[in-house]
Amino acid sequence: MIIAVDGPTASGKGTIAKALAAHFGLPHLDTGLLYRAVGRQVMLNGGDPDNAADALAACAFAEGLLDDPELRSEASGGLASRVSVHPDVRRALFERQRNFALQAGGAVLDGRDIGTVIVPEAPAKLFVIASVEARAERRWKEMIGRGEDVSRESIADDLRRRDERDTQRAQAPLVAARDSVTIDTSLLNREEAIAAAIAAVRQRH
Ligand code: C5P
Repeated sequence: MIIAVDGPTASGKGTIAKALAAHFGLPHLDTGLLYRAVGRQVMLNGGDPDNAADALAACAFAEGLLDDPELRSEASGGLASRVSVHPDVRRALFERQRNFALQAGGAVLDGRDIGTVIVPEAPAKLFVIASVEARAERRWKEMIGRGEDVSRESIADDLRRRDERDTQRAQAPLVAARDSVTIDTSLLNREEAIAAAIAAVRQRH
């Protein structure tokens, strides 16, 4: 049972992927963390995230950073989005993700290109979307809860920039796989979104 969950940042795909893993008793890989770790490692190396060689050099060490709480920050998300445009970086992280997906018993992976590039043969593919406004509102609440001082507008601007970079890049752009089921979480609460995802996966298995 391989479940691919793709979608833009703050769409709810991480929450859905975690809930699916718990529900079906499968291991889960948040592939955004891999790109976030590469971005952070580039900075620790004093490199430039827009430089392909600097980003590739960071890939070998990124695994050691996966537990770093700093990876959850907005800054790390922005860095991840910059290093993820380099084809060499995507190639370097490919095997790690594919091996995780193909482990015995199955797995849940969430990211941008799981259903299109990493495991196109996955029987269950979800494409999770939500309006920029709904995503900005959620992210804002999260950040305010952590005591960060930000406006909804600046978060929405950042989401739009990130969406543009993720959907326009030449290599593995964010796009729904042809046989994916789209779940729009704009008007759903957490429980409704999870229930819709479980129902969609059940239909495919
Ligand atoms: O999902 P998350 O917000 O953690 O991803 C951070 C960034 O990493 C994304 O904006 C995207 O550019 C990149 N990414 C990617 N492919 C993936 C997962 C994340 O390009 N499978």
